[in-house]
Amino acid sequence: MSVGIERLAAYIPSYALSLGDLAAARNVPPEKMTAGLGVHEMAIAAPCEDVVTLAASAGLRCLRRAGIDPSEIGLLLVATETGVDHSKPVAIFVHELLAIGRHCRVYELKHACYGGTAGLMTAADWVRAGGTRRRKALVIASDIARYELRSAGEPTQGAGAVAMLVGNEPRVLSLDAETGTYAANVYDFWRPFGRREALVDGKFSVECYLDALGGAFLQYRALERPALGSQEALSERLARLLYHTPFPKMASKAHRRLIELDWRAAGRRDADDDSITASFRTLAAPGIEAVSHIGNTYTASLYFCLAGILEREARALAGRRIGLFSYGSGCCAEFFTGTMPSGVESVADAGLRDLLSSRTMIDMAEYERLMTSSELGGEPPSSFTGEFVFHGVRNDRREYGRLRESMAA
Ligand code: CAA
Repeated sequence: MSVGIERLAAYIPSYALSLGDLAAARNVPPEKMTAGLGVHEMAIAAPCEDVVTLAASAGLRCLRRAGIDPSEIGLLLVATETGVDHSKPVAIFVHELLAIGRHCRVYELKHACYGGTAGLMTAADWVRAGGTRRRKALVIASDIARYELRSAGEPTQGAGAVAMLVGNEPRVLSLDAETGTYAANVYDFWRPFGRREALVDGKFSVECYLDALGGAFLQYRALERPALGSQEALSERLARLLYHTPFPKMASKAHRRLIELDWRAAGRRDADDDSITASFRTLAAPGIEAVSHIGNTYTASLYFCLAGILEREARALAGRRIGLFSYGSGCCAEFFTGTMPSGVESVADAGLRDLLSSRTMIDMAEYERLMTSSELGGEPPSSFTGEFVFHGVRNDRREYGRLRESMAA
């Protein structure tokens, strides 16, 4: 039975900050952001949006695009590292906002940025196990990435959500059953209770990411080894490679590491710079284009890369196999592959292009006001494109509402 992603939809908040403006305000050359980190803009959430409204907006767009009645969802998983309560899951608010039926398994998943992949793999296993009674799973990865103002992490913020309908008619991506995994207890990035901004050991986190990539990829490669020809690189069997992308330069570091390991394992001479650059342009660069205008979205980041190539090149990728690498600090990582089926172009619209073109750019004063405000909830700005609003907290309870009845598909 094929299992995988049947439909995918993205949602990003309607505000964005130019990294050129951030560089000027922080007195660093703009190339540090655009070339050094690879980021051009980052999405910023308005006070009326939180991780619940981002997730619900992506989920609604996914159900609408798939033409699925919410009662057909038998498993709702929301992955986030921006949880709103120690006990009450983000997923149950989303369950209500999407009017999903009572007979549904609903929970939140957490393992830093790996949570989205944990959700996807759990949902795929649930479908493979066959207890779904023809119902489908909805997996939503939703996050708001925040670091201290003026910290090294500040240019690597962002916000957004991606929703994936998972079932046994995978029109977007049919998942291969084998994966490579890696886990180790490391303190590279974390957010203790009570803190809104993450703590990070930045340079160490990059090393942890690359170590985990090596561990997961080489395990996967060993599984595929019997099918590979003499000195054949696994990367040459893949049409695209997508990486968890906290900032686009991280994906280029990851790609270099993967190609070096792949060539070495194939018994070839060491990969030279020209080969790595050429392979990066073809295999990895298309995946990070959209992300360079959104920033880090933690659990959703890898799936924004998938949404990006789906919208840009579905027709060219129909029938071809791609590789995906997911990393969550702390850490857990997974390398997996899947095939975009023929006809994928008919489900290529993830809503990303429209959202990116209708955003409002904010200036530094507004950005700093939003980032330092303790305001919870509020009125949506006039440029607001979302469907759901976070009204605020009353009597220790979070309140949400639907903004409009006729919603963008
Ligand atoms: N022109 C061009 N490039 C420039 C430049 C200029 N004028 N000035 C600097 N650069 C380059 C540097 O050479 C460097 O490039 P390389 O990495 O290729 O050497 C790059 O810009 C970054 O500059 P710094 O080395 O000075 O690093 P920094 O102090 O800006 O910190 C960071 C970078 C550590 C990534 C920091 O942004 C950070 O802590 N980010 C948050 C943590 C993070 O995203 N970690 C990623 C792995 S963990 C993960 O993936 C989970 C997750 O989502 C958080």
